[in-house]
Amino acid sequence: MKITVQALNITQFTGDTVIVNLFEGVTSPGGATGAIDKALDGAIGQLISDGELKGKLNTTTVIHTFGKIPAKRVIIVGLGKPADFTLDRVRQVAATAIKAARRLGAKSVATVVHGAGIGDLDPLQAAQAVTEGTLLGLYRFKKYVTKPLDNDDPESLTIAELDQAKLAVLQQGVWRGTVYAEATNYARDLVNEPGNVATPTYLADQAEAIAREFELEVSILERRQMEELGMGSILAVAQGSEQSPKLIVLRYWGAGKDDKRPPLALIGKAVTFDSGGISIKPADNMGEMKGDMSGGAAVLGALRAIAQLKPKINVTGLVPAVENMPSGKASRPGDIVKTMSGKTYEIISTDAEGRMILADALTYARRLGCSPLIDAATLTGAIITALGFEYTGAFTNDQATLDKVLTAAKAAGEKVWPMPTDEAYKEQLESDVADMKNVGGRWAGAITGALFIGTFAEGTPWVHLDIAGTSKTGPGKDGPYQPKFGSGVMTRTFAALAEMMQA
Ligand code: BES
Ligand code: MN
Ligand code: ZN
Repeated sequence: MKITVQALNITQFTGDTVIVNLFEGVTSPGGATGAIDKALDGAIGQLISDGELKGKLNTTTVIHTFGKIPAKRVIIVGLGKPADFTLDRVRQVAATAIKAARRLGAKSVATVVHGAGIGDLDPLQAAQAVTEGTLLGLYRFKKYVTKPLDNDDPESLTIAELDQAKLAVLQQGVWRGTVYAEATNYARDLVNEPGNVATPTYLADQAEAIAREFELEVSILERRQMEELGMGSILAVAQGSEQSPKLIVLRYWGAGKDDKRPPLALIGKAVTFDSGGISIKPADNMGEMKGDMSGGAAVLGALRAIAQLKPKINVTGLVPAVENMPSGKASRPGDIVKTMSGKTYEIISTDAEGRMILADALTYARRLGCSPLIDAATLTGAIITALGFEYTGAFTNDQATLDKVLTAAKAAGEKVWPMPTDEAYKEQLESDVADMKNVGGRWAGAITGALFIGTFAEGTPWVHLDIAGTSKTGPGKDGPYQPKFGSGVMTRTFAALAEMMQA
């Protein structure tokens, strides 16, 4: 799909499909919708007065033009109530409209920038949101389906703008939206790939490919190096699997290597398949655990975006990648593990493996001099009990860093909610035979999981994002720009955070 901006009266567009919009409650449309209505001899106004067209959010109405304008058809997408209009609704309606166009077999489509007119949004941001919604909405993971798809994607989308002076700004928005959306779709691909393809080695190869294409520094720590560094915690998870563990380190030097500020660390859990290990999971839906590398996917996606956006900041991406399997070599409940930090813990459940790999990844990030440390992990079922599939849970030892993450998430259109990290919960992690247990019992599981990880941040500012609920769609929960399964969540928040924190 190629997206371009053109100085164009949308009624004159010579492709096959035109997209305009309608706010709920509007009886006589203005702007581009009004111009199309006029060219169609009042067809839109008629539908409104007949009560067939109401402008409800994410609804579409199709009108055939019978030669009254060059385009064959007009799609009118509902924007909902003007008072409720947001940048995120721009993403939603752009996705709804382009998917309707695809279903109709459209090849060449033009659209207005939703919200740039009466919606009163910033034109650059609105164009970025239209682009993001379009590319995220069209996303499909069909590479293993051998039967042909019902419809191909439209070949082109033209953003029509009458005001010549706005073109450059809209073009910038389209470029930024493309970077953000392609990085998210890249992360979605990694999440959707099955565990027999997306192994730790595959993720390491992906990181090397990103580094080559976008000029990042990359290093992959192998089992040998992990042994030398004393990363007993990552190795304890990996030892049950035939797949070699990898600690992927991708570095972006946007502020130069002599910058005085420490590099921002983005750390992502990448368990390429989580069977639970010896504490094996129930069979129902176990296949969804191919998505247990979503945090790592977000980090790879974000570094890819950051390398293109080029903010003046240094960023280090760290992705501990392992497979969690039961075998004769696997870790057992009761085993005591020595981490790279020197701290020890007792394994209560081998299914609490995310915090185990993050422990050493955080210690290594600190060893590299990074600060703050931001991690994303599909860590606990408990966060789904608390927040469902809507919100990512955020945990921190430093309010100022959390505030930055929340601001970045808002800009990116990703929902994040703060959770408590009261030290009182830490009692649940006390062990008789080691410094800690890896599980804190039945209650407040997302918090005790977070506190386990936080121990390894030591004093460094740290935010943990539990994306177990948001990394993939919940039951029946696909949205306008969120197709089934992998969401790529936190890719855009991470990229926005790096941009926000630049000098
Ligand atoms: N990867 C899971 C968490 C998860 C659950 C992600 C559901 C997505 C959907 C994690 O490794 C895990 O197994 N967590 C355990 C922790 C428990 C053993 C303390 C859990 O949540 O049950
Ligand atoms: Mn697990
Ligand atoms: Zn897991």
